[in-house]
Amino acid sequence: MYHLVVFASGNGSTLQAIIDSIHRHELEAQIDLVVSDNPNAYALTRAKDNQIETYTIQNKNFESRDIELSQVLSNYSIDLIVLAGYLKMIGPNLLEKYTIINTHPSLLPKYGGKGMHGMHVHEAVVTAQEKYSGATIHFVNQEYDKGNIISQTKVEVLPSDTAETLSQKVQSAEKIQLIKVLNQLIHHEI
Ligand code: GAR
Repeated sequence: MYHLVVFASGNGSTLQAIIDSIHRHELEAQIDLVVSDNPNAYALTRAKDNQIETYTIQNKNFESRDIELSQVLSNYSIDLIVLAGYLKMIGPNLLEKYTIINTHPSLLPKYGGKGMHGMHVHEAVVTAQEKYSGATIHFVNQEYDKGNIISQTKVEVLPSDTAETLSQKVQSAEKIQLIKVLNQLIHHEI
């Protein structure tokens, strides 16, 4: 079995998409742990509702967070860590031990970097009147949104789109793309 740990800071609809795909047997994997830096993240409720273990990391310091997480994760056998709307930087201890991927709601390198997450991205894309946006799945390295790109999906931005409608379009494309990438990783096609 392929063992996943999912990190999420907010709503957790991406986590839910992974859980649903596993339940539908579209992914031969299991989620052993959900980690959040936000004790109020709805992602934690989704995990508990699905009998998945959770860990909330409240340490604000980058180095100590890295050490604490690496101690917690050492109790698990992990094939892949998925950042699914996780907003904190990943430290060197985790980067050195694990394969980590992130999903980002823009066509990187556009609209990436510190502070560019969730609705902030869609607002910036709509304000700039871009013709296209999309989602990027990439390996995680020591810089925000700079790791090697695995795959991108484009969506059209219509003049009538708001950040809200764009977010819905990008998020549905993003979830399909993520499940596809996870399947490719599971089957060693990447
Ligand atoms: C997703 O669209 C993900 O790409 C984005 O946050 C959303 C999480 O939604 N991640 C980033 O912006 C990271 N820079 P969710 O909490 O409903 O899964």
